[in-house]
Amino acid sequence: MTCSLQIEFIRSSQISPDDQQTIDRLDHLAFAGKVAEDDPNEWADSDWMVLGRIDGEIVTQLGLLKRKIRAGAVLLPVGGVGGVATHPAWQRRGLSTALLRAAAPFIQTELKVSFGLLNCANESQPFYARLGWKTVAAELWFMENKKRRLLQTPVMILPLSTHEWPQGEIDLGGLPW
Ligand SMILES: CC(C)(COP(=O)(O)OP(=O)(O)OC[C@H]1O[C@@H](n2cnc3c(N)ncnc32)[C@H](O)[C@@H]1OP(=O)(O)O)[C@@H](O)C(=O)NCCC(=O)NCCS
Repeated sequence: MTCSLQIEFIRSSQISPDDQQTIDRLDHLAFAGKVAEDDPNEWADSDWMVLGRIDGEIVTQLGLLKRKIRAGAVLLPVGGVGGVATHPAWQRRGLSTALLRAAAPFIQTELKVSFGLLNCANESQPFYARLGWKTVAAELWFMENKKRRLLQTPVMILPLSTHEWPQGEIDLGGLPW
């Protein structure tokens, strides 16, 4: 079913108003009812969107951003992956898998970082693990309205080089994604 999937990488600033509407609708649809009480009030904007279209319609998407974060004593840039969503009518056909597979070399060569990083629900970990993502923490720090907040969430990284992930507390230093 993925054979007719067209994958496009587009800077968020270059998305047309029509496509942005579709992206926002899909986001709301996919994440409806999934907001937890201690979730952040705001999420970081993506620098890039990865869009998957079938017959021209956006049916699956994810956002990418580059951020310098702190892990333990080390400051390092990561490729953030967020807003992974497939339209409910198109789920379980390998579409998100295809986007995540396509995103990995892009994160490595275009964002020029050694790690992807995402946070996800407990039940989504096996999905990302199948694609090479590894859980490195059960919480992360982020900044919201100038306040430092702790988010309890599986934190997963995608190693894109031979570098070891630094041990220690993870601080995104800004809004999470
Ligand atoms: C999670 C999600 C993006 C998967 O998209 P998809 O295109 O169906 O993904 P694929 O077909 O490539 O892979 C399907 C796998 O996703 C995993 N998965 C994780 N969470 C899931 C969910 N809530 N519903 C369905 N599948 C889910 C399953 O392991 C499934 O594999 P299985 O069919 O062998 O059980 C999609 O279900 C979605 O949009 N969910 C709502 C938003 C969300 O939770 N996003 C993830 C944020 S971390």
